[in-house]
Amino acid sequence: MSEKLAINGGTPVRKNPLPPSYPGATMFNAEETVGLAEVVAAKSPFRFYGPNCLGKTKQFEKDLAKMFGVKHALAVTSGTAALMCALKAAGVGAGDKVIVPACTFIATPGAVVCAGGVPVFADIDESLSMDPDDIERHIDKYTKAIICVPILGNPCQMDRIMEVANRHHLTVIEDAAQSCGSSYHGKLSGTFGHINTFSLQMNKIITTGEGGAVVTDDPKLYERAVRYHDQGMFREREGFLNVNENEDVFVGEDYRMNEFSGAVALVQLHKLPEIISRMRHIKKIIKDGLRNVPGIGFRRINDEAGDAGNAIIFLLESQTKAVAFVRALSAENISTYQLYSGIPIYMQPQIFRQRTADNSGFPFNQFDKPVVYTEDMCPHALDILSRNAVINVGPTWTEQDAQDVVAAVKKVAAQVL
Ligand SMILES: Cc1ncc(COP(=O)(O)O)c(C=O)c1O
Repeated sequence: MSEKLAINGGTPVRKNPLPPSYPGATMFNAEETVGLAEVVAAKSPFRFYGPNCLGKTKQFEKDLAKMFGVKHALAVTSGTAALMCALKAAGVGAGDKVIVPACTFIATPGAVVCAGGVPVFADIDESLSMDPDDIERHIDKYTKAIICVPILGNPCQMDRIMEVANRHHLTVIEDAAQSCGSSYHGKLSGTFGHINTFSLQMNKIITTGEGGAVVTDDPKLYERAVRYHDQGMFREREGFLNVNENEDVFVGEDYRMNEFSGAVALVQLHKLPEIISRMRHIKKIIKDGLRNVPGIGFRRINDEAGDAGNAIIFLLESQTKAVAFVRALSAENISTYQLYSGIPIYMQPQIFRQRTADNSGFPFNQFDKPVVYTEDMCPHALDILSRNAVINVGPTWTEQDAQDVVAAVKKVAAQVL
């Protein structure tokens, strides 16, 4: 007889929940403390000057560029700020459309709107990322850029996406917020597009609580991102407010990273290989243990060797089964959830109803035909997301933790799927 599920009053597979899966944060130790204390002792929390500015943020940028094999890196205050700087660097604004995937966090289409552009949603495939075959039908005379998003450690098919983009002269931004350290055919996510972004927010693979970064090989895009993030200035070149009007100068914002975040980012960056290798190890145990379990299916990984390992995403037979699976597994003390509530991101009311803070209709009213979003415009996203269930994997998990996940999934699958 099968064991009674915890959701029905049985004993849960685990007595206690798994360690929280905030990968970078769970790896905090004395190294981050030392970095922070150094900034306090120097009394210099601002990146550009101070009585004894340590240049932690600059060092993070240098090391990030080196580790990722790119020419330029810019630290900013969040992944959203990084997207804003990348979009503005690419010149995206009023009257521009940007193709984004139907599965992503709201920040991706949100940044496009805040930049003055309009997001157009491409469908996804079973990897949960943009389907390269669904990009072309969305391109029109207004299209300026594509943002692709490797979801929870699974790299996008960047060769195919770049091929379409280059054919249509579109700028590509890889929003690698969730996938720092994943790679596609040996090349790191966040190094494929013309200009790319990372988030260092708490849920991310490395974290400063809040933070982000922009990387690019293109000196012009870099300069424009730097200017946008610092009120139009490029201090390292021309100092404070000394811009020659012949420069490509424009009004910017303040997305500067402070030295506390810079100090933590620097330490976390050097922990990235260790974090990735631990998560890959744990994920492999879980996936190996769940081979050929009836009813269990996984999202497709575009390059197994490059998967960051930060999530196991199941694709189940139906939405009803996925919801039941999530509930039953969570009751076994294996924290499980449906990514983005199981719906495409364009279904969120601020996007779907095109609501901005001023209700002026801008930026959606810049085109010769109205922009209309419909529920079924990305049918694969509707179907695939409704059937997803996610377990985030953490770098501090033990092999026993991994075995508990295997046992719980098998127990639940046998009775629910
Ligand atoms: C795909 C994606 N893009 C952008 C962001 C925004 O990052 P932040 O929260 O640092 O602004 C996130 C954060 O979850 C994300 O998942």
